[in-house]
Order: sequence, then structure tokens, then C-alpha cells
Amino acid sequence: MCGIVGYIGKASAPSVLISGLRRLEYRGYDSAGMAILEDGSVVVSKAPGKVSALNDKAHADWPAERFSKSSTGIAHTRWATHGPPTEVNAHPHLDESGDIALVHNGIIENYRALRTRMEGKGHHFYSETDTEVLAHLIGDRYKGDLFQAVCDALSQVEGTFGIAVISAKEPGKIITARRGSPIVIGVGEGETIVASDASAIIAHTRQVIYLEDNDIAVVTADNVDIRDLHQVPVTREVSELGFDSAAAEKGGYEHFMLKEIHEQPDSLSNAIRGRLDFNLGSSVLSGMGSSPRELAEIQRVVLVGCGTSLHAGLVGEYAFEDLANIHAEVEQAAEFRYRNPIIGRTDLVVAISQSGETADTLAAVREANQKGAFVMGLCNVVGSTIARETGRGVYLHAGPEISVASTKAFTCQVAVMLMMALKLGRGRRFSRDEGMKFAREIESIPALVEKVIAQSDRIAEIAKRYANDEHAFFIGRGTMYPVALEGALKLKEISYIHAEGYHAAELKHGPIALLQEGTPVIALANDIPGKDKTLGNIEECRARGARILGIITEGDQEAAEAMDDFIEVPACHPLVATVPSVVALQLLAYHIANERGCEIDQPRNLAKSVTVE
Ligand code: AGP
Repeated sequence: MCGIVGYIGKASAPSVLISGLRRLEYRGYDSAGMAILEDGSVVVSKAPGKVSALNDKAHADWPAERFSKSSTGIAHTRWATHGPPTEVNAHPHLDESGDIALVHNGIIENYRALRTRMEGKGHHFYSETDTEVLAHLIGDRYKGDLFQAVCDALSQVEGTFGIAVISAKEPGKIITARRGSPIVIGVGEGETIVASDASAIIAHTRQVIYLEDNDIAVVTADNVDIRDLHQVPVTREVSELGFDSAAAEKGGYEHFMLKEIHEQPDSLSNAIRGRLDFNLGSSVLSGMGSSPRELAEIQRVVLVGCGTSLHAGLVGEYAFEDLANIHAEVEQAAEFRYRNPIIGRTDLVVAISQSGETADTLAAVREANQKGAFVMGLCNVVGSTIARETGRGVYLHAGPEISVASTKAFTCQVAVMLMMALKLGRGRRFSRDEGMKFAREIESIPALVEKVIAQSDRIAEIAKRYANDEHAFFIGRGTMYPVALEGALKLKEISYIHAEGYHAAELKHGPIALLQEGTPVIALANDIPGKDKTLGNIEECRARGARILGIITEGDQEAAEAMDDFIEVPACHPLVATVPSVVALQLLAYHIANERGCEIDQPRNLAKSVTVE
């Protein structure tokens, strides 16, 4: 869950590496470091904290000309797994000779045994990390050929890795390899960039190569030689990046999260465009890669994911059952992969992942493939591992999502699942007219969200009244239950308020004991089936002194009177209402966190894509 960058070319490697790390900082930001080759030796700078701390340290420690003359280097921004975020534990790590430097994203599971063996050979270790062991292993195998040494070392490693390696003895090349953690290679004019994802490459080139698991590459300024770990040459296609560097900038917003919330009318339009067929009253999702006859064989839909993607799956469950009359289940990916699930060829397993790199969801894909299920991905990052391993699926087209707190990916995941359910529904229960009617509902989503975003300033005023609370409850019924869970997650992630989401009926089975005078309860009381029951649950909370902030349907006076504060969302289908309602909660969480002065784009202890178990 770290970000790595490697550069070889004409430009100043330290500057390229620092700007690349800044673009990857959302992957991990508790310490950073870089190593460059200079006059036959490896020079390293590392610092705890953000990339800016590394930049300051390197500029303080290094002579100015080092920033102009060097051309080869590797760098890393960390999300600590082994050893606290200190300068010593930061990457790069060196081998015993100090001539070989390595940066690593992933976990080496057998590092203790390897370390003991290296210590037995007289090696000295300075850090508590698993990664330092790999640097020493490469050094131990080095016999004048860095590529050979890296292959030998990796053949002894259990676990996951995305690595970049340089050696003072072999200037002018970087060795990079992956198993389980992403590596993208940017092919430029007389320069080559290696990175964990394309956002660190887009400023240099749009031509990229995605490495597959167990690929290893020798990279120079004008060549990329890819092989498998047995050194057999492999061919990987060069693809063109579909976004520009502006997309990876804040665009005048204070935070990426606020920018991405405001981008949702556009990202939703992109996710929907060209995918609704009003003539057939259905949707066109060519990526599902299956004929109506094949789709008709599907008996059950299993939605797997983690975090926000799991919550989107919960909305999907309602959609598939309600629109397509098909049995649907939602699985937490980490549980699914270890539980030996009963899955077969008539099951459609949908792996939901914004990054397409989440380790548990990737493992769930492999488990479902193993069991012969019909597997597809719902991803945002083009060329990501889950997208490539499922081989079919639907891209969200939401554009890069930089903020750790996922917003536009969630709403696009829901919109796409509504279109998938419509497609299956047209094959099972929907008439053409019913299909067209629901397609119009989906088409209206961007405009519905626009109306909620227009209330951002008003929501900021409301947020002031909840910013000093340390606890909060979110409640909802039916399609709003997953929205309550997602609202609580957003608030937790970025404001550090202890927030819990519950099905509104579940409170009185225990959690209501936590309510006391002034406790905030955020209630999804949209005018959809179950509203009356939710209003009843609100009265139970109010009777215990709770303060009620309601998400209600525009103009619903009855609901408004039951609230201390309320945010209105436009009237629409209960499934569609999940999207504008969650946007209201995204804005609420954002403004509360902003009021509390939190690090919104890089919340503590988190990272954007979780590539370790
Ligand atoms: C959401 O705001 C979090 N960043 C996190 O829960 C995230 O949704 C989860 O890690 C899944 O990520 P994915 O969609 O990239 O697989």
C-alpha cells in the first residue's frame, strides 16, 4: 500500500522522483525516501512524514548540483506494515555492500527466515522491515549481473511485491518486477518511468505498459526488456492513458475530495453515456461479454468487495433482486476468499473495486475463477490487476480518484450496477416500457446529484453544528441502509468521529443504549417504502435526547418537522435515490472534517488502495 517511482532519462532524477511521489502520496504517506546513482555510488535520502519532508531534507542535505546532474533513481512513499514510520524503516533499503538499493510495495511473508539466514552469513540489518531482507538477498546473489541476482532473490520470496532496484555497479538501468502489487512502466522519449500507478507517469508520457504477476523488466532510458522470473522473454502491449495530468490536479479546489464530489455529475454522465438503450428499454454493457442467452443461465449474483465498494455492492443486491428478480448476495472479500464459498458456473461473481488492486478482492476473483463461476470486474482504474484477471467487466469511467475517501467511484459503481440489473431484468421480468421507464430514471441521476451539490454551502452551515461531537449514528431502511453504512464510513475516515451505520430497526436491539442527550443521529428518511417506520425509529431516538439530522425528499413537510436539521434530495426511484442521498452525506462528512481541520485527502492510518491482506 505504498507508492514507488523509478526514473531513468535526461531530466534531474530527484525532481522527477519527488513530483512522482507527490502524485502517489494517496497510496501511503507516513515516510518517504529516494536513492540516486552518482559517480559510481548510491546516494540516499529518507525522512519520516510526508513527501514534502523528504523534499526539504534532500534539499538541505544534498548539494544543489545533485538535483541537476543525476539521471537515474528510485523513490518510495510508505504505508507502514513492518516497523513504525521512522527514517531507518523508510525505503529505499540497501544491501550489505551499500551498492544496491531497493524500493518495495507489498509484504514478504517469509522475511524472518530469510533474515535469520542472511544474519547467519554475517549480514547486518538496521531496520525492522521485511523489505531490507530482499535488498540483502539480491546483494547476496549478486555475481556481476543485477538482473540475474534479482531473479534469484525473488525465486526465494513468498508474498507480494512491486519493486524497483538500482546498482552503483550497473548505472543506466533499473530492474522492476511485480507479484500482487501493481507496476506500470511509462515509455517516453529518451526516458522511462516506473511507478505503482499511472498518475506518476502522466506528466511524462501517455504510453504505458502494465506488468503482469511474475513479470520482471530491465529498464533503460530507451528500452524496456520484459521477461518472466525464469528469464523467458514475454510481450506486454503498450497502451495509451485515457486521462490527462489535469485530472490528477486539484483544479482550484481545497481538497481532492471536494473536487471529486463536485465532479460527480460529469463522472456519472461518463459512466452512463452510451450505455442506455431507450429503444430496447435496456442497457448496453459490452464489457459483460455475454449474450442474452448466457445471461439467462445466471441463477445468482454474488457481489464481492471491501469498504466503500462493499457498500455499493449492498445497493447492487437490492437492484438485482428488485429489478431482475434474481437471487443476489454480498460478500466481504476477505471472508469470501477463506470461507470456501459454494460457487458454481451459474453464479455471476462481480468484483467491485475502484483501484482494481485491493488484495482481498483480487483473491476473491481468483477463488471464484477457481470454482468456475462467471466472473466480472467493476473497476475504475483501467488496466488494473482485477480488470485484467477477470478479463471482462465494466469500467466506471469516473476518472482518477485521488482522495483516499472514495466518493465518485461509489456513485458510479451504483449507477453501473443499476444498468447491469436493468440488462438482466429486461431478460427476465421487465417489459420494454418498464425498461425504458427505469432507463430514464438512471439517465436523470447526474441532474439529481447536481441539485444536492448546489446545497454545499448550506450543508457546510449544518456541519458546524455537528463538528464538535465525537460520536454519531446513521440509520436507514431498505435501499437507504447501505447509504447509512457509507455515510458513517465517510465521516469516520476523514473526521475521526466514531460513527456507526445501522439498519433503523436494529437500534432498539442494543445500539440505542448508546444514545444520550445531544447524540447526533443522521437518519435517511427519504419518501420511499419504509419511511413511516423510519420516522417511528426517529421518535425512539428523539425520546432518548438524540439530535436528528434528516436526509429527506424535497418538499416532504411531514419528515422535515421530525428533524432538528435536514438536507433535501429530489424525489426519485428508491434505488436511484441512494445516489443523491449519499452525495449529501459525502458533503456533510467533508464539511465536518474541514470544520475540524482534518487532513481530508490523506486521513491518518489510511491509504487509497489496500494491496496487502
Ligand atoms: C473508502 O473511502 C476507502 N478508501 C476504502 O474503504 C475503499 O473503499 C476500500 O479499500 C476498497 O477499495 P477499492 O474499491 O479500490 O477496492
